[in-house]
Amino acid sequence: MKVLMVGSGGREHALIKKLKDSPKVTEIFCAPGNGGIAKDATIVNIGAMDIENMVAFAKDNKIDLVFVAPDDPLAAGMVDAMENAGVRAFGPNSKAAVIEASKVFSKNLMKKYNIPTAKYEVFDNPKSAIEYVVSENTVPVVVKADGLALGKGVIIAQTIDEAKDAIKSIMEDKQFGDSGNNIVIEEFLTGPEVSVLAFTDGKTVKPMVSSKDHKRAYDNDEGLNTGGMGTISPNPYYTDEIAKECYETIFVPTIKAMEKEGRPFKGCLYFGLMLTPNGPKVIEYNARFGDPEAQVVLPRLKTDLVDICEAIIDERLADIDIQWYEGATACVVMASGGYPLAYKKGIEILGLNENGGVDGAIVYHAGTKLEGDKFLTNGGRVLGVTAKGDTLNEALDKAYTAVGKITFENAHYRKDIGKIR
Ligand code: AMP
Ligand code: GLY
Repeated sequence: MKVLMVGSGGREHALIKKLKDSPKVTEIFCAPGNGGIAKDATIVNIGAMDIENMVAFAKDNKIDLVFVAPDDPLAAGMVDAMENAGVRAFGPNSKAAVIEASKVFSKNLMKKYNIPTAKYEVFDNPKSAIEYVVSENTVPVVVKADGLALGKGVIIAQTIDEAKDAIKSIMEDKQFGDSGNNIVIEEFLTGPEVSVLAFTDGKTVKPMVSSKDHKRAYDNDEGLNTGGMGTISPNPYYTDEIAKECYETIFVPTIKAMEKEGRPFKGCLYFGLMLTPNGPKVIEYNARFGDPEAQVVLPRLKTDLVDICEAIIDERLADIDIQWYEGATACVVMASGGYPLAYKKGIEILGLNENGGVDGAIVYHAGTKLEGDKFLTNGGRVLGVTAKGDTLNEALDKAYTAVGKITFENAHYRKDIGKIR
Protein backbone atom coordinates (compact mmCIF):
# COMPACT_ATOMS: atom_id res chain seq x y z
CA MET A 1 0.00 0.00 0.00
CA LYS A 2 1.05 3.54 -0.72
CA VAL A 3 0.20 5.94 2.08
CA LEU A 4 0.14 9.75 2.05
CA MET A 5 0.40 11.54 5.41
CA VAL A 6 -0.83 15.13 5.46
CA GLY A 7 0.90 17.37 8.04
CA SER A 8 4.34 18.32 9.28
CA GLY A 9 4.72 17.90 13.04
CA GLY A 10 5.75 15.43 15.71
CA ARG A 11 2.32 13.80 15.58
CA GLU A 12 2.70 13.09 11.87
CA HIS A 13 6.20 11.69 12.46
CA ALA A 14 4.82 9.36 15.15
CA LEU A 15 2.01 8.23 12.81
CA ILE A 16 4.53 7.57 10.02
CA LYS A 17 6.84 5.55 12.27
CA LYS A 18 3.84 3.45 13.35
CA LEU A 19 2.69 2.95 9.74
CA LYS A 20 6.21 1.73 8.88
CA ASP A 21 5.61 -1.20 11.26
CA SER A 22 2.82 -2.44 9.02
CA PRO A 23 3.82 -5.23 6.61
CA LYS A 24 1.14 -3.91 4.24
CA VAL A 25 2.82 -0.54 3.72
CA THR A 26 5.31 -0.33 0.85
CA GLU A 27 5.75 3.40 0.47
CA ILE A 28 4.99 6.47 2.59
CA PHE A 29 4.74 10.05 1.35
CA CYS A 30 4.36 13.08 3.59
CA ALA A 31 3.14 16.54 2.60
CA PRO A 32 4.70 18.87 3.55
CA GLY A 33 6.66 16.93 6.26
CA ASN A 34 9.87 18.13 7.95
CA GLY A 35 13.59 17.33 8.17
CA GLY A 36 13.20 14.31 10.43
CA ILE A 37 10.21 12.94 8.55
CA ALA A 38 12.37 13.04 5.39
CA LYS A 39 14.33 10.09 6.86
CA ASP A 40 11.17 7.98 7.09
CA ALA A 41 9.03 9.10 4.16
CA THR A 42 9.24 10.72 0.74
CA ILE A 43 8.60 14.44 1.18
CA VAL A 44 6.00 16.01 -1.10
CA ASN A 45 6.08 19.75 -1.42
CA ILE A 46 2.35 20.49 -1.04
CA GLY A 47 0.97 22.57 1.81
CA ALA A 48 -1.37 20.85 4.28
CA MET A 49 -4.22 23.22 3.28
CA ASP A 50 -3.76 22.85 -0.48
CA ILE A 51 -6.69 20.49 -1.02
CA GLU A 52 -6.73 20.66 -4.81
CA ASN A 53 -3.08 19.72 -5.28
CA MET A 54 -3.24 17.13 -2.49
CA VAL A 55 -6.11 15.34 -4.23
CA ALA A 56 -4.32 15.54 -7.59
CA PHE A 57 -1.15 14.07 -6.07
CA ALA A 58 -3.08 11.24 -4.41
CA LYS A 59 -4.79 10.36 -7.70
CA ASP A 60 -1.72 10.68 -9.90
CA ASN A 61 0.34 8.52 -7.57
CA LYS A 62 -2.40 5.93 -6.93
CA ILE A 63 -2.28 6.45 -3.17
CA ASP A 64 -4.19 3.70 -1.34
CA LEU A 65 -4.67 5.58 1.93
CA VAL A 66 -4.48 9.28 2.75
CA PHE A 67 -4.15 10.13 6.42
CA VAL A 68 -5.24 13.70 7.18
CA ALA A 69 -3.70 14.49 10.58
CA PRO A 70 -4.13 18.25 11.31
CA ASP A 71 -7.33 20.10 12.27
CA ASP A 72 -7.40 22.78 9.54
CA PRO A 73 -7.53 20.55 6.44
CA LEU A 74 -10.10 18.32 8.18
CA ALA A 75 -12.33 21.31 8.91
CA ALA A 76 -11.77 22.60 5.36
CA GLY A 77 -13.01 19.33 3.85
CA MET A 78 -9.89 17.52 2.66
CA VAL A 79 -11.38 14.12 3.49
CA ASP A 80 -14.61 15.01 1.62
CA ALA A 81 -12.53 16.04 -1.41
CA MET A 82 -10.52 12.80 -1.33
CA GLU A 83 -13.68 10.71 -1.07
CA ASN A 84 -15.29 12.61 -3.95
CA ALA A 85 -12.22 11.82 -6.04
CA GLY A 86 -12.45 8.13 -5.12
CA VAL A 87 -9.42 8.19 -2.80
CA ARG A 88 -9.65 6.38 0.55
CA ALA A 89 -8.93 8.80 3.38
CA PHE A 90 -8.71 8.52 7.17
CA GLY A 91 -10.26 11.34 9.18
CA PRO A 92 -13.66 12.96 9.71
CA ASN A 93 -15.40 14.81 6.90
CA SER A 94 -15.94 18.54 7.39
CA LYS A 95 -19.46 18.05 8.79
CA ALA A 96 -18.04 15.89 11.58
CA ALA A 97 -14.82 17.89 12.09
CA VAL A 98 -17.01 20.79 13.21
CA ILE A 99 -16.98 19.14 16.65
CA GLU A 100 -13.52 20.73 17.01
CA ALA A 101 -13.84 23.63 14.59
CA SER A 102 -16.79 25.22 16.43
CA LYS A 103 -16.93 25.34 20.21
CA VAL A 104 -20.48 26.71 19.95
CA PHE A 105 -21.44 23.56 18.04
CA SER A 106 -19.73 21.21 20.51
CA LYS A 107 -21.13 22.95 23.60
CA ASN A 108 -24.67 22.90 22.17
CA LEU A 109 -24.24 19.23 21.23
CA MET A 110 -23.23 18.35 24.78
CA LYS A 111 -26.14 20.31 26.24
CA LYS A 112 -28.65 18.70 23.89
CA TYR A 113 -27.44 15.16 24.63
CA ASN A 114 -26.68 15.58 28.36
CA ILE A 115 -22.95 15.01 28.00
CA PRO A 116 -21.21 16.41 31.10
CA THR A 117 -19.37 19.70 30.43
CA ALA A 118 -18.85 23.14 32.01
CA LYS A 119 -21.95 25.40 32.15
CA TYR A 120 -21.79 28.06 29.44
CA GLU A 121 -23.45 30.82 27.44
CA VAL A 122 -22.84 31.77 23.79
CA PHE A 123 -22.53 35.39 22.61
CA ASP A 124 -22.41 36.97 19.16
CA ASN A 125 -21.64 40.51 20.36
CA PRO A 126 -19.20 41.94 22.91
CA LYS A 127 -21.78 44.13 24.66
CA SER A 128 -24.00 41.30 25.92
CA ALA A 129 -20.93 39.15 26.69
CA ILE A 130 -19.54 41.89 28.93
CA GLU A 131 -22.93 42.49 30.56
CA TYR A 132 -23.09 38.77 31.31
CA VAL A 133 -19.66 38.50 33.01
CA VAL A 134 -20.37 41.66 35.00
CA SER A 135 -23.76 40.41 36.18
CA GLU A 136 -22.47 36.90 37.02
CA ASN A 137 -19.46 38.44 38.77
CA THR A 138 -17.72 35.08 39.23
CA VAL A 139 -14.00 34.54 38.63
CA PRO A 140 -12.04 32.80 37.28
CA VAL A 141 -14.20 32.70 34.18
CA VAL A 142 -13.27 31.06 30.88
CA VAL A 143 -13.61 32.93 27.57
CA LYS A 144 -13.30 30.87 24.37
CA ALA A 145 -13.25 31.88 20.73
CA ASP A 146 -15.71 29.72 18.77
CA GLY A 147 -13.38 28.70 15.94
CA LEU A 148 -9.89 27.28 15.45
CA ALA A 149 -7.20 29.53 16.95
CA LEU A 150 -3.97 27.48 16.95
CA GLY A 151 -4.71 26.33 20.50
CA LYS A 152 -4.67 29.92 21.78
CA GLY A 153 -8.37 30.75 21.74
CA VAL A 154 -9.01 29.95 25.42
CA ILE A 155 -8.48 32.63 28.05
CA ILE A 156 -8.87 31.93 31.75
CA ALA A 157 -9.68 35.36 33.18
CA GLN A 158 -8.78 35.84 36.83
CA THR A 159 -10.62 39.17 37.14
CA ILE A 160 -13.69 40.74 35.52
CA ASP A 161 -11.38 43.27 33.84
CA GLU A 162 -9.32 40.46 32.32
CA ALA A 163 -12.53 38.86 31.05
CA LYS A 164 -13.61 42.17 29.47
CA ASP A 165 -10.19 42.53 27.80
CA ALA A 166 -10.40 38.98 26.47
CA ILE A 167 -13.89 39.58 25.05
CA LYS A 168 -12.75 42.81 23.39
CA SER A 169 -9.57 41.36 21.89
CA ILE A 170 -11.44 38.35 20.48
CA MET A 171 -14.64 40.08 19.30
CA GLU A 172 -13.58 43.67 18.55
CA ASP A 173 -9.88 43.47 17.67
CA LYS A 174 -10.47 40.07 15.98
CA GLN A 175 -7.31 38.59 17.48
CA PHE A 176 -8.27 35.23 15.95
CA GLY A 177 -10.06 36.62 12.89
CA ASP A 178 -13.49 35.18 12.14
CA SER A 179 -12.90 32.45 14.75
CA GLY A 180 -13.95 35.13 17.24
CA ASN A 181 -17.27 36.11 15.65
CA ASN A 182 -18.94 34.10 18.40
CA ILE A 183 -17.63 33.27 21.84
CA VAL A 184 -18.40 30.82 24.60
CA ILE A 185 -18.19 32.00 28.19
CA GLU A 186 -18.03 29.12 30.59
CA GLU A 187 -17.70 28.04 34.16
CA PHE A 188 -14.15 27.45 35.44
CA LEU A 189 -13.67 23.80 36.37
CA THR A 190 -10.95 22.23 38.49
CA GLY A 191 -9.35 18.80 38.63
CA PRO A 192 -6.73 16.72 36.83
CA GLU A 193 -6.88 16.77 33.02
CA VAL A 194 -6.84 13.59 30.93
CA SER A 195 -6.55 13.18 27.18
CA VAL A 196 -8.30 10.17 25.72
CA LEU A 197 -7.98 9.57 21.99
CA ALA A 198 -10.51 7.15 20.56
CA PHE A 199 -10.91 5.30 17.29
CA THR A 200 -14.44 5.50 15.93
CA ASP A 201 -16.19 4.57 12.71
CA GLY A 202 -19.29 6.57 13.60
CA LYS A 203 -21.02 3.62 15.26
CA THR A 204 -18.46 1.95 17.50
CA VAL A 205 -15.98 3.79 19.71
CA LYS A 206 -12.73 2.19 20.96
CA PRO A 207 -10.76 4.38 23.34
CA MET A 208 -6.97 4.20 23.16
CA VAL A 209 -4.71 4.14 26.21
CA SER A 210 -4.96 7.41 28.16
CA SER A 211 -2.41 10.20 28.28
CA LYS A 212 -1.63 13.45 30.04
CA ASP A 213 -0.45 16.60 28.32
CA HIS A 214 1.57 19.42 29.91
CA LYS A 215 0.33 22.55 28.14
CA ARG A 216 2.11 25.38 29.95
CA ALA A 217 5.52 26.52 28.75
CA TYR A 218 7.38 26.29 32.07
CA ASP A 219 7.82 23.96 35.02
CA ASN A 220 5.12 23.88 37.70
CA ASP A 221 2.56 24.78 35.04
CA GLU A 222 3.78 28.35 34.78
CA GLY A 223 4.00 30.53 31.67
CA LEU A 224 1.82 30.65 28.59
CA ASN A 225 -0.23 27.83 27.12
CA THR A 226 1.56 26.00 24.30
CA GLY A 227 0.60 23.24 21.88
CA GLY A 228 1.95 20.83 24.51
CA MET A 229 5.41 20.56 26.14
CA GLY A 230 5.33 16.87 26.98
CA THR A 231 3.10 13.87 27.59
CA ILE A 232 2.93 10.63 29.49
CA SER A 233 0.85 7.49 28.99
CA PRO A 234 -1.02 6.11 30.83
CA ASN A 235 -2.48 9.05 32.77
CA PRO A 236 -2.07 8.12 36.45
CA TYR A 237 -5.39 9.72 37.42
CA TYR A 238 -7.40 7.73 34.88
CA THR A 239 -8.43 4.61 36.80
CA ASP A 240 -10.37 1.71 35.24
CA GLU A 241 -13.43 2.89 37.14
CA ILE A 242 -13.19 6.41 35.73
CA ALA A 243 -12.55 4.96 32.27
CA LYS A 244 -15.78 2.97 32.51
CA GLU A 245 -17.72 6.04 33.61
CA CYS A 246 -16.27 8.12 30.73
CA TYR A 247 -17.11 5.40 28.23
CA GLU A 248 -20.74 5.29 29.37
CA THR A 249 -21.42 8.96 30.05
CA ILE A 250 -19.18 10.65 27.46
CA PHE A 251 -17.67 8.50 24.69
CA VAL A 252 -20.68 6.46 23.59
CA PRO A 253 -23.17 9.35 24.00
CA THR A 254 -20.92 11.61 21.87
CA ILE A 255 -20.69 9.09 19.02
CA LYS A 256 -24.46 8.53 19.15
CA ALA A 257 -25.12 12.27 19.26
CA MET A 258 -23.01 12.89 16.16
CA GLU A 259 -24.80 10.07 14.35
CA LYS A 260 -28.22 11.48 15.32
CA GLU A 261 -27.17 14.90 14.07
CA GLY A 262 -26.37 13.40 10.68
CA ARG A 263 -22.65 13.95 11.25
CA PRO A 264 -21.23 10.48 11.93
CA PHE A 265 -17.62 10.87 13.04
CA LYS A 266 -15.05 8.57 11.43
CA GLY A 267 -11.44 8.81 12.49
CA CYS A 268 -9.72 9.66 15.75
CA LEU A 269 -11.81 11.65 18.21
CA TYR A 270 -9.89 13.31 21.04
CA PHE A 271 -11.66 13.78 24.35
CA GLY A 272 -10.06 16.49 26.53
CA LEU A 273 -11.46 15.66 29.95
CA MET A 274 -11.30 17.15 33.40
CA LEU A 275 -11.85 14.90 36.41
CA THR A 276 -13.83 17.38 38.53
CA PRO A 277 -15.13 16.79 42.05
CA ASN A 278 -18.53 16.30 40.33
CA GLY A 279 -17.28 13.65 37.92
CA PRO A 280 -15.50 13.65 34.56
CA LYS A 281 -16.46 16.49 32.21
CA VAL A 282 -15.53 17.37 28.63
CA ILE A 283 -13.26 20.42 28.28
CA GLU A 284 -12.92 20.09 24.53
CA TYR A 285 -13.13 17.74 21.57
CA ASN A 286 -10.50 17.53 18.88
CA ALA A 287 -11.23 15.89 15.54
CA ARG A 288 -7.78 14.31 15.27
CA PHE A 289 -4.84 12.80 17.13
CA GLY A 290 -3.41 15.17 19.75
CA ASP A 291 0.13 16.48 19.47
CA PRO A 292 2.12 15.42 21.58
CA GLU A 293 -0.43 12.83 22.78
CA ALA A 294 0.08 10.74 19.61
CA GLN A 295 3.79 10.54 20.46
CA VAL A 296 3.10 8.55 23.67
CA VAL A 297 -0.03 6.65 22.63
CA LEU A 298 1.11 5.26 19.25
CA PRO A 299 4.30 3.57 20.52
CA ARG A 300 2.00 1.52 22.80
CA LEU A 301 -0.23 0.34 19.92
CA LYS A 302 0.33 -3.34 19.11
CA THR A 303 -2.35 -3.79 16.40
CA ASP A 304 -1.51 -2.80 12.82
CA LEU A 305 -2.60 0.85 12.41
CA VAL A 306 -3.42 0.25 8.73
CA ASP A 307 -5.92 -2.47 9.70
CA ILE A 308 -7.57 -0.04 12.12
CA CYS A 309 -7.74 2.75 9.52
CA GLU A 310 -9.28 0.42 6.96
CA ALA A 311 -11.81 -0.92 9.46
CA ILE A 312 -12.85 2.65 10.27
CA ILE A 313 -13.19 3.67 6.63
CA ASP A 314 -15.27 0.53 5.95
CA GLU A 315 -17.31 0.99 9.17
CA ARG A 316 -16.41 -2.35 10.70
CA LEU A 317 -14.44 -1.21 13.74
CA ALA A 318 -16.62 -3.43 15.97
CA ASP A 319 -15.02 -6.49 14.34
CA ILE A 320 -11.42 -5.78 15.18
CA ASP A 321 -9.58 -6.32 18.42
CA ILE A 322 -7.18 -3.49 19.28
CA GLN A 323 -4.25 -4.43 21.49
CA TRP A 324 -1.81 -2.33 23.49
CA TYR A 325 1.59 -2.86 25.06
CA GLU A 326 1.72 -2.73 28.86
CA GLY A 327 4.14 -0.34 30.52
CA ALA A 328 4.43 3.39 30.02
CA THR A 329 5.73 6.04 27.65
CA ALA A 330 6.98 9.59 28.15
CA CYS A 331 7.61 12.37 25.64
CA VAL A 332 9.64 15.48 26.46
CA VAL A 333 9.31 18.30 23.95
CA MET A 334 12.45 20.27 23.18
CA ALA A 335 11.38 23.73 22.04
CA SER A 336 13.04 26.84 20.65
CA GLY A 337 13.85 29.44 23.31
CA GLY A 338 11.02 31.98 23.40
CA TYR A 339 8.26 29.60 22.24
CA PRO A 340 5.24 30.08 22.27
CA LEU A 341 6.19 33.70 21.52
CA ALA A 342 8.86 34.73 18.98
CA TYR A 343 11.85 32.40 18.51
CA LYS A 344 14.78 31.94 16.16
CA LYS A 345 14.94 29.27 13.44
CA GLY A 346 17.82 27.67 11.57
CA ILE A 347 19.93 26.69 14.61
CA GLU A 348 21.96 23.50 14.22
CA ILE A 349 20.87 20.59 16.43
CA LEU A 350 23.76 18.54 17.84
CA GLY A 351 23.62 15.03 19.27
CA LEU A 352 21.32 13.40 16.72
CA ASN A 353 22.55 10.53 14.55
CA GLU A 354 22.20 10.60 10.76
CA ASN A 355 18.64 9.32 11.07
CA GLY A 356 17.72 12.07 13.49
CA GLY A 357 17.50 9.83 16.55
CA VAL A 358 19.51 8.87 19.62
CA ASP A 359 20.08 5.43 21.17
CA GLY A 360 17.47 4.32 23.70
CA ALA A 361 14.82 6.80 22.60
CA ILE A 362 12.44 7.52 19.76
CA VAL A 363 13.01 11.08 18.56
CA TYR A 364 9.98 12.50 16.75
CA HIS A 365 10.76 15.61 14.76
CA ALA A 366 8.25 18.44 15.11
CA GLY A 367 10.01 21.48 13.66
CA THR A 368 13.27 20.56 11.93
CA LYS A 369 14.83 21.06 8.54
CA LEU A 370 17.52 19.00 6.83
CA GLU A 371 20.40 20.95 5.31
CA GLY A 372 22.89 18.54 3.80
CA ASP A 373 23.40 16.10 6.66
CA LYS A 374 22.64 18.64 9.38
CA PHE A 375 19.37 19.03 11.23
CA LEU A 376 18.37 22.65 11.89
CA THR A 377 15.57 24.01 14.09
CA ASN A 378 12.58 25.14 12.06
CA GLY A 379 9.68 25.65 14.47
CA GLY A 380 8.60 26.38 18.04
CA ARG A 381 8.37 22.78 19.09
CA VAL A 382 11.49 21.15 17.63
CA LEU A 383 11.69 17.54 18.87
CA GLY A 384 9.54 15.15 20.90
CA VAL A 385 12.01 12.92 22.70
CA THR A 386 10.12 9.78 23.65
CA ALA A 387 10.90 6.56 25.50
CA LYS A 388 9.13 3.42 26.66
CA GLY A 389 9.60 1.69 29.99
CA ASP A 390 8.05 -0.94 32.22
CA THR A 391 7.12 1.92 34.54
CA LEU A 392 6.54 5.62 34.06
CA ASN A 393 9.75 6.44 35.96
CA GLU A 394 11.79 4.18 33.70
CA ALA A 395 10.27 5.83 30.59
CA LEU A 396 10.94 9.30 32.01
CA ASP A 397 14.55 8.44 32.95
CA LYS A 398 15.23 7.18 29.44
CA ALA A 399 13.57 10.17 27.76
CA TYR A 400 15.48 12.67 29.91
CA THR A 401 18.77 10.79 29.36
CA ALA A 402 18.21 11.18 25.62
CA VAL A 403 17.27 14.85 26.02
CA GLY A 404 20.62 15.31 27.80
CA LYS A 405 22.47 14.15 24.67
CA ILE A 406 20.78 16.66 22.36
CA THR A 407 21.73 20.33 22.29
CA PHE A 408 20.91 23.43 20.30
CA GLU A 409 21.31 27.09 21.18
CA ASN A 410 18.52 28.32 23.49
CA ALA A 411 16.85 24.90 23.66
CA HIS A 412 14.07 24.87 26.21
CA TYR A 413 12.28 21.89 27.77
CA ARG A 414 10.32 21.24 30.93
CA LYS A 415 12.11 19.29 33.64
CA ASP A 416 8.90 18.17 35.36
CA ILE A 417 7.08 16.12 32.72
CA GLY A 418 5.25 13.26 34.44
CA LYS A 419 5.66 14.69 37.94
CA ILE A 420 2.35 14.38 39.74
CA ARG A 421 1.64 17.15 42.18
P1 AMP B 1 -8.46 24.05 25.06
O1 AMP B 1 -7.72 24.90 24.05
O2 AMP B 1 -9.94 24.04 24.89
O3 AMP B 1 -7.80 22.72 25.23
O4 AMP B 1 -8.20 24.77 26.46
C1 AMP B 1 -6.89 24.97 26.89
C2 AMP B 1 -6.79 24.69 28.35
O5 AMP B 1 -7.60 25.63 29.07
C3 AMP B 1 -7.33 23.33 28.79
O6 AMP B 1 -6.39 22.32 28.63
C4 AMP B 1 -7.64 23.60 30.23
O7 AMP B 1 -6.46 23.52 31.01
C5 AMP B 1 -8.09 25.04 30.24
N1 AMP B 1 -9.55 25.12 30.26
C6 AMP B 1 -10.40 25.15 29.20
N2 AMP B 1 -11.67 25.23 29.62
C7 AMP B 1 -11.65 25.25 30.97
C8 AMP B 1 -12.65 25.30 32.01
N3 AMP B 1 -13.95 25.38 31.72
N4 AMP B 1 -12.25 25.30 33.29
C9 AMP B 1 -10.92 25.25 33.60
N5 AMP B 1 -9.94 25.19 32.69
C10 AMP B 1 -10.29 25.17 31.39
N1 GLY C 1 -1.99 18.56 22.80
C1 GLY C 1 -3.25 19.12 22.61
C2 GLY C 1 -3.74 19.12 21.24
O1 GLY C 1 -3.25 18.42 20.37
O2 GLY C 1 -4.69 19.84 20.97
